[in-house]
Amino acid sequence: MMKTLVLEDMPNLFWQKVNENNWLGHFTKDNSIAEIVIIRTKTQFNKKLFIKYPNLKVIIRAGTGMDNIDMKEAKRRDITVLNTPEANALSAYEHTISFILALIKQHQKWKSNILSNNWKSGISKNWEISDLKILVIGVGRVGTRVAKTMQILGAEVLGVDPYLTNREWKEKKIEKITYQNGLKWCNLLTFHCPLNNETTDYFDLGTLDKLENPIWLINTARGKIINEKLLPKGLQDKMILGFGTDVFKEEPWKVKNYAKFKNVLVTPHVGAFTKKAKKRMTFEVLKVLRHFAFNGKGDF
Ligand code: MLT
Repeated sequence: MMKTLVLEDMPNLFWQKVNENNWLGHFTKDNSIAEIVIIRTKTQFNKKLFIKYPNLKVIIRAGTGMDNIDMKEAKRRDITVLNTPEANALSAYEHTISFILALIKQHQKWKSNILSNNWKSGISKNWEISDLKILVIGVGRVGTRVAKTMQILGAEVLGVDPYLTNREWKEKKIEKITYQNGLKWCNLLTFHCPLNNETTDYFDLGTLDKLENPIWLINTARGKIINEKLLPKGLQDKMILGFGTDVFKEEPWKVKNYAKFKNVLVTPHVGAFTKKAKKRMTFEVLKVLRHFAFNGKGDF
């Protein structure tokens, strides 16, 4: 049996199921014999860390983003890396929709307007969903759900995803556009792509200049996709009508001044912080473990 080491907190339900299946004896705290490690979002699996696990064969990333794992090094060492891609997709998509609606209906601005006894004055009009031209960057599990929902609600939607085939676009019933042309067309930009070399600073000061309309900006993917430096300028110049973000360059985030704009919504990387997402994540990890470590045996 392959020995498994758990490097980050797993939900109680996970340990309950491990116990019920009598798997506990196959878990270890000893780096030198661990063949499977389970990580979540905090562990940076860089070159140095690989050295600490000489027998490693499988990394299970409980969650979606793999940007905290040096994939090249894993490949070089012939280590299999698996994630739980479905677990958080639904909650991350819902988080995105909540940002879109709260921004265009200006909840935060109206609240402060009431609190300062300025009933209904001094704030521009709310938008309707049919005013939106949404550019979805990354049309995968989360992006597709965002696109389809917003289409149904009456927004115009286009997608950017260089990894989809024409057939996949057709099946999804979403129109594609290039990033450059999409920037000229949209008035709402939402990111649902992984963080990698290609997408780091994907939206930076240069990109901001290419916009033809002011935009609502949403990020529930990874903080480094948007270069934070553009935010004060974009918000000040009103090219960014509002910004909703769940993710930051560094986490926990050292609060920057731009967060104080009333049209900026910030949440502390809680897109996957629902009971059901944790449950789905637990069962996806258990399935992977059953396959790799327990010869397909186990009941849950
Ligand atoms: C993910 O990548 O699944 C999300 O960012 C949530 C997380 O792993 O914490």
